[in-house]
Amino acid sequence: MQDLILGIETSCDETAAAVVADGRIMLSNIISSQVDFHRKFGGVVPEIASRKHLELVNPVIDSALAEAGVKLSALAAIAVTAGPGLVGALLVGVNTAKTLAYAAGKPLVAVNHITAHVSANYLVHEVTFPAVCLVASGGHTSLLYLRNRQESKLLGTTRDDAAGEAFDKVARVLELGYPGGPAIDKLAASGDASAFAFPKAFSGRDTYEFSFSGLKSAVINTLHNLSQRKEEINKADIAASFQAAVVNVLVEKTCLAAVEFDVQSVLLAGGVAANRMLRKSLQEALYVDGRKLFCPPPELCTDNAAMVACAGFDLYRLKHFAGWDLNATPVIDNILQAE
Ligand code: KG4
Ligand code: ZN
Repeated sequence: MQDLILGIETSCDETAAAVVADGRIMLSNIISSQVDFHRKFGGVVPEIASRKHLELVNPVIDSALAEAGVKLSALAAIAVTAGPGLVGALLVGVNTAKTLAYAAGKPLVAVNHITAHVSANYLVHEVTFPAVCLVASGGHTSLLYLRNRQESKLLGTTRDDAAGEAFDKVARVLELGYPGGPAIDKLAASGDASAFAFPKAFSGRDTYEFSFSGLKSAVINTLHNLSQRKEEINKADIAASFQAAVVNVLVEKTCLAAVEFDVQSVLLAGGVAANRMLRKSLQEALYVDGRKLFCPPPELCTDNAAMVACAGFDLYRLKHFAGWDLNATPVIDNILQAE
């Protein structure tokens, strides 16, 4: 018999629910994006996110169960993102999951959002270990060493802005709208990446930490200078040069880690992993050394609940269940567990 896990994700601005069988077969994957509500504010407004999750979470769960043709009683467990993320947004998912699990008499599993992003790879790939994984999203930039699906070590993270946050902020000053990553990805394709020599977002070869705020300021300063001098602003060139500065450092540090830890597998995860230049550049850089890149399809890179159900399945098999006192954890130091 298959183990059916209902995954629930409300950590930021997507209300999502999915039913996944045996951590692998996606029977449904429903995502209701709030992007249109946040767009006019140029970013996610936490209070609006919480209210929208409240409106959407039950219909989205109903759709996920209906599309999968599964009743609550047939589930093995209910998995929910418990953190990191926006506290008010997380609380909606956590309390909904607790209520459903209690009412249906099912085990509750608390999933770490970053682990869930990594797990998106397991939905579609047979990953070989050990591996190095770069998780780059709107809230995180983390380089991980993965011994296996359960054991990992954080090698480095961002000292300031996350990679996706830098994309969103630069897109905002370029007036490209929200979310900025996809808009920059698209515009950069027609720009010249060598037009502007933006500082490399690199905080030294001896560390796996990242820093993107200096790069973001450099782009903003360049735009101010150009407009003060009344010079033409070629947005495509700025987007391409900025994107190259981000991608180059992400690729360079990920490859350094792959060499130092002598792994044959490298994983990409998180919303920024949808970026076409990042996928292509990393693939090319790893190919030289015969290492393999695993990357989820773009729709599984950004927030979804199938990845939560997949990560939840691993914890379910370990009988790693959460108590009824489970709370939302907006900041989590221990990268792979939300307990
Ligand atoms: O993983 P995600 O959906 O949410 C968080 O956990 O933060 O990531 C969203 C982030 C946003 O900052 C968005 O601009 C970025 O991922 N993103 C991209 C692309 N698609 C989404 N960044 C660069 N290129 C893309 N194609
Ligand atoms: Zn995410």
